[in-house]
Amino acid sequence: MRLKTLCLLLIVMGSFACSQSNAPAPAAHDSRSHDFFSFANTDQFVAEHLQLELTIDFDTEQLYGSATLVMRRLDPAATEIILDSRDLMIQGASFESASGELATAEFRFGKSHDVLGTPVLITVPPDFGSAAQLSLKIDYRTSPTATALQWLPPELTTGGKHPLLFSQSQAIHARSWVPLQDTPAVRITYDASIQTPPELMAVMSANNDPDTARDGSYEFEMPQPIPPYLLALSVGNYYFAPIGEQTGVYAEPELLDAAAFEFADTQAMLDTAEAMFGPYAWERYDLLILPPSFPYGGMENPRLSFLTPSLLAGDRSLVSVVAHELAHSWSGNLVTNATWRDGWLNEGWTSYLELRLMEVLYSKERAAEENVLGYRELLLDFEQVAPDFQALAPRFETGDPDDFQGTIHYHKGNLFLQYLENAFGRDRFDEFIAAYFDEHAFGTITSEAFLDYLDDKLLSAYPGKVSRTQAEQWLYEPGLPDAAVIPASATLDEAAELAALFSQGEIDIADIPAADWSPQALVHFINSLDADLAGDKLKELDATLGLSDTRNAEIGRTWFIQVAKRQYRPAYAKLEEHLNRFGRGRLVQPVYQALVENGADADLARNMFERARRLYHPVTITSIQRVLQPGTPD
Ligand code: BES
Ligand code: ZN
Repeated sequence: MRLKTLCLLLIVMGSFACSQSNAPAPAAHDSRSHDFFSFANTDQFVAEHLQLELTIDFDTEQLYGSATLVMRRLDPAATEIILDSRDLMIQGASFESASGELATAEFRFGKSHDVLGTPVLITVPPDFGSAAQLSLKIDYRTSPTATALQWLPPELTTGGKHPLLFSQSQAIHARSWVPLQDTPAVRITYDASIQTPPELMAVMSANNDPDTARDGSYEFEMPQPIPPYLLALSVGNYYFAPIGEQTGVYAEPELLDAAAFEFADTQAMLDTAEAMFGPYAWERYDLLILPPSFPYGGMENPRLSFLTPSLLAGDRSLVSVVAHELAHSWSGNLVTNATWRDGWLNEGWTSYLELRLMEVLYSKERAAEENVLGYRELLLDFEQVAPDFQALAPRFETGDPDDFQGTIHYHKGNLFLQYLENAFGRDRFDEFIAAYFDEHAFGTITSEAFLDYLDDKLLSAYPGKVSRTQAEQWLYEPGLPDAAVIPASATLDEAAELAALFSQGEIDIADIPAADWSPQALVHFINSLDADLAGDKLKELDATLGLSDTRNAEIGRTWFIQVAKRQYRPAYAKLEEHLNRFGRGRLVQPVYQALVENGADADLARNMFERARRLYHPVTITSIQRVLQPGTPD
C-alpha cells in the first residue's frame, strides 16, 4: 500500500499522527511532538468532520448557531472530550450516536489561560458505552471580542456602504469562533450553512460558487480534510471576477478590476506549481481582497487565499505574496506542521517554493532579488530574536505561536532547503519535493519525522554530501551554519554600491538610475543608505524618487522606517498617512518600532498609534503595543 493511501486510511480511522515511512512517530509524551497550544485530548477522541450552522449578526458583532463535531473515540475507556474555546458562550451540548440516539451532554469550562483560552470539558453519557463514533452538537455564540474575527463598520471598507467581517484563524484563533480541537495535528472536513444580511455575500475556505444567488443564505462544503487553523469565513459586499479556468478574485466592486489586473498571472502560477510540486489537491484557487486592516500580506485559506489590498501596487510587483500563499497549497495545507514549533515546515518550505515559482514565472534575477531581501530580513531577525528561538525547530512550550521567532522560520527554512538543493542538485531535489508531498499528502509532520525522511531519501541515499549532523545543526542550533549558501543579486549589489557612493557624496542624485530598477532594488537601495545620512540628502531623494508618495507599500515601509530612524521630520506627516493607510503588521509595526527606538519619538509614536488604532486588527494592535510599551529604550 502506498504511504499516501495509508495516511488517508489512518485519517479515516481517526489516527492523526501520520508522519512518515521509516521511523515511528514520536510517542505522545515526547515533548517535541506534543502540541502545547491546545487543550484537546486528541489521543482519546479525534474530530473528523465539522458541521457549522451560523448566523452573522453585524448589530451585536456575534456569530450564533451550532457546531457539530463528528468524532472518533480512539480510547474505548475515555469518557470526557476536551475542546478548545476562547470567549465562547455555550448554551447547550448534545450527543448523537451513529444509530441516531440523542442525549444531553454535561459540559463545564476549565481554567482559562491568557494565550490558550478556556478548555471545554464534555462528559460522554454512559449509554453511549464505548461507541467508536459520536456526534457532538454545541449551541453557542461568539463574543464581540473573538480574536479570530474582525467586524468592520462600512466606513472602514472601500465602498463605505456595507459592513464587513473576516476571520483569521491561524495560529490558535479558530477556537474563538468555533469550539473544536484547535491543533494542526487534527484534520477535519466541513460543511457550513451561513446566514448573512441579504445584500451581502459569504465566502469560505471551501467550494465557493461565483454564481451563487446573493440571497443571504450560503452553503459550503470542504471535502478535503484540513487542519482547523485553515477554517475561514468572510462576509461583505463581494463580487467575483474570473482570472483563469480554475482561478479568480473576490473583492468589493470598487477593487475588482484592479485586483483582476494585478493578479492576472494566478492561473499561470497554479499551472507552474502543479508541474513542479505535484497535483493541486483543492480544485479551485481563488483570491479574496480584504480591507486594509487585514493583518497579514496573505493567508493561505484553502481554495481561497485571503490577501491585503496593499498588494495592489498597479504593476504586479508584489505578487510574490500570491506565489507564497498558493505554494502553501502544498507546504502547509497538504502537508501540515504537526505543532507550531514545526512552523518552518509550513513557512520555510513555502518561502522556498515561492522563490522557485518566481524564478519560472518572472526571472532568475527577480527571484534572486527577493531571496536577498529575505536574507537581509533574516540578519535583522537574528539581532532581535533570542538564540533559543533561532533554531528552525526550537523548544517551544509557552508563549504565543503567532509570534515566537519573527520570520526566522521563513528565511532560514528557505536557506536550509536551498542548501539541500545545492548539495544534491536541482534534479534530485525536485524529485524529493514531489515525493515528499505525494507521500505525506493530507498528513502532518514533525521536524524529526522530516529529518528521518530526508535522511532516508537524500542524506543516506547519496552519502558524502550532507551529514545528519549538518542537517541537525539547521534544526537545533541558532544562527546560520557556515555551509549556508548566501543569496546574491547583481542588481541589488549595484543598488547598494550606488547607495554608498551617494551617501558619501561621490555621486549625484541624477546618477542613480532608479527609474530602471525593480521596486526590490529600490528597497535595497534605501536600506543600504548610510546610517547618518544628512537631512538634505534625504530631502533630495524624496523629491526625486517620490518616496513619501509611493504607491508601492513595500517601498513605503522601507522609506518610512528610515525616515523614523533618522528623525527626518519633514516626512512625518506622510509617515502618519502610511500608518493610517495600512493595517498589515509588517507595514506598520516596524515604523512604530523605529520611532520608539530613535531616542526622541516614543511619545509621538504612542500618539500616532492612538489615532490609528481603530483601523487595526487586534493581532496588529498587540504587535505594535509590544514595541510601544514604556520601558522600551527611548
Ligand atoms: N500563514 C501566513 C500568515 C500567518 C503567519 C498567519 C503566522 C498567522 C500566523 C502566510 O502564509 C504568510 O506567511 N504571510 C506572509 C506573506 C509573505 C511572507 C510572502 C505575510 O503576511 O507577510
Ligand atoms: Zn506563509
